[in-house]
Amino acid sequence: MSRKALIAANWKMFKTPAEAKAFVDAFLPLVAGHSRDEIALFPSPVLLPTVIEAAKGSNVVIGAQNIHFAPEGAFTGETSIGQLKAVGGTHTLIGHSERRQYFAETDEIVNKKLHAALENGIVPVVCVGEVLADREAGKTGDVLKKQIDGALVGITAEIAAPIVIAYEPVWAIGTGKTATPEMAVEAHKIIRAEVAKLLGPAVAAAVRILYGGSVKPANAKELIGQEEIDGALVGGASLKADSFAAIVKY
Ligand code: PGA
Repeated sequence: MSRKALIAANWKMFKTPAEAKAFVDAFLPLVAGHSRDEIALFPSPVLLPTVIEAAKGSNVVIGAQNIHFAPEGAFTGETSIGQLKAVGGTHTLIGHSERRQYFAETDEIVNKKLHAALENGIVPVVCVGEVLADREAGKTGDVLKKQIDGALVGITAEIAAPIVIAYEPVWAIGTGKTATPEMAVEAHKIIRAEVAKLLGPAVAAAVRILYGGSVKPANAKELIGQEEIDGALVGGASLKADSFAAIVKY
């Protein structure tokens, strides 16, 4: 089964609205007519209206880096799915390792956010990945299975179709160290097998699993070109239009 790749930019806490607009204005012509892959940008919430307006009518979709699972309420500093949808956002990252590490996001919170996204028609990109100590202790498979099991509690095959998973080994994020294609493929196979166990072979065959962690123009092809790797989630190398366009067109 062929899966359409998703190439996604995680801008993290970078760019002003003016810088974000300048990126989109420079980026769109570079990827105009590119239909082989889906392209997504994940800017900070304060940038969403600017980026969505600038990308309107293009082949680039826009999402949030984080959403809250509650429809609204007294949750200072958070963004609801309703707010994201109201400004035209269609996707969201969930459980990025920086959210897990610095903002205490647990598998249980990831699961609540995944339910909320699916119930409200937002495409979720659920991030999983092991830290270096896990890998060195030979626990990568166990960690990935636990994160997938935790994320998918109560999710049925009937509602699972929009789910995208991003495998991001934490030791490869922002470090310049990239998983080898073999390491990434092995991890993706573990994730896909776990999805098959929980949601059946049809969902597992269709679910897109992205690789993230120091993806750049020079290594994009050897990673995304793998049959098991259905795209990339790109941090640092997504901040410049020419660099991210080169990755999209690997
Ligand atoms: P990086 O970040 O490409 O800068 O390693 C990836 C991510 O955190 O999604």
